[in-house]
Amino acid sequence: MIKNEDTLPLDPDRLAKRIEKLGRIGLHPDGGLDRGVYDHSWAVALDVVEGWLRQGGLETRRDAVGNLFGRLEGRSSNRTVMSGSHIDTVVSGGAYDGALGIHAAVEAIITLADHFGPHKKALEVLVTCEEEGSRFPADYWAARALVGTIEPGEWDHLFALDGSGRTIADAMRQHGLNPERVPTAKRDDVDAFVELHIEQGRVLEEAECPIGIVEAINGKLHVTVEIVGRADHAGNTPMSLRQDALAAAADLTLRIEQLAVTLGSPSVATVGEIRAEPGVINVIAGRARLTIDARAPEPVQVDALEAGIRAAVTEVAAERGIETRITDFSRHEPVALSPWLIDVLVDISRGDPRYDPLRMQSGAGHDSQIIAPHIPTGMVFVPSVGGISHSPSEFTRLYDIVIGVDVLGRALHQLAESDGGRT
Ligand code: HGY
Ligand code: MN
Ligand code: MN
Repeated sequence: MIKNEDTLPLDPDRLAKRIEKLGRIGLHPDGGLDRGVYDHSWAVALDVVEGWLRQGGLETRRDAVGNLFGRLEGRSSNRTVMSGSHIDTVVSGGAYDGALGIHAAVEAIITLADHFGPHKKALEVLVTCEEEGSRFPADYWAARALVGTIEPGEWDHLFALDGSGRTIADAMRQHGLNPERVPTAKRDDVDAFVELHIEQGRVLEEAECPIGIVEAINGKLHVTVEIVGRADHAGNTPMSLRQDALAAAADLTLRIEQLAVTLGSPSVATVGEIRAEPGVINVIAGRARLTIDARAPEPVQVDALEAGIRAAVTEVAAERGIETRITDFSRHEPVALSPWLIDVLVDISRGDPRYDPLRMQSGAGHDSQIIAPHIPTGMVFVPSVGGISHSPSEFTRLYDIVIGVDVLGRALHQLAESDGGRT
């Protein structure tokens, strides 16, 4: 066993090279990354990571939805301790969101294999195929496959956000994946899952703390609203006779913003996208579509956000004599991570006085929030420079990354050498 004051013999140079290589797969002209699930850059990225896993001597395999695994078999148990994160990105995203959790798991588990050989339990790198919902409103597709909460046939009703009418099943088949086999992806052998992730906020940086240990992940609402007005001539239609769908969408956007401001921190709400049709300068928009992302740490706060959103949608319709419809709605409850696993991560971090960890809440969503209700789950945060994320400017210093991977690796070592589901 590694003593708490020892650090792992990691290879920072190897880590940096991998971050740089994966950070160029799916490059946007604006310097951001665009790796949507089941698209070409997604497939290229998975193959590159699979190559690293095999180079590191791990057994690789992919499940029915395209999650990738790299496994070091256990000496005396086929139970599994798992670590990883998502390979997909938001549109024009950064090189660290999701990817850093993969790099961390690869570096930690290959280092443990090289220096300590097989552990009592199996150690496994998890590369989840989809977390962001950038191409399909798939709502944590990879993690839901892993814990078995994808509904039968759901894959035929998830349509691409680009309006092409293609389903996620169509995209899966393009990669030789059979949607009917999705239920086989469920895992029942995992005793602990630990995800390293960038904080995507400013708390660690402002506290000058290199390590955050996540206690809970905020609840999240995703709502799509369709607005149906009347397309009309921009020049000849008096203001009093208009049913302007884009103006209604703008009105609703400001009401959503005001709702979160009124409810106060830590509640937040964002309209990230408005589409208007026909979308030309001299036509009053007949239709509009907007998406709402609202989050809060307590169920009662999520309730207030949901009630406020529904009320605003109804009010805009009544006041403007226009039709508004909620066409897509998903709600994820706030999730507490595993207390005993949080304690393990805090103790391991404290093993080195340099790493006094901060226990914290995550406003961002993660694979962990889907996994946590089914498998003991913990998260390690590392600082985001300037708190920037979901942006080409996303960045975490290698010095902080190495500290995070060291904590992750020592935790995985302890978990995989322990008995039962708890250490
Ligand atoms: O939306 C989120 O919090 C995550 O990036 N999917
Ligand atoms: Mn993200
Ligand atoms: Mn993420």
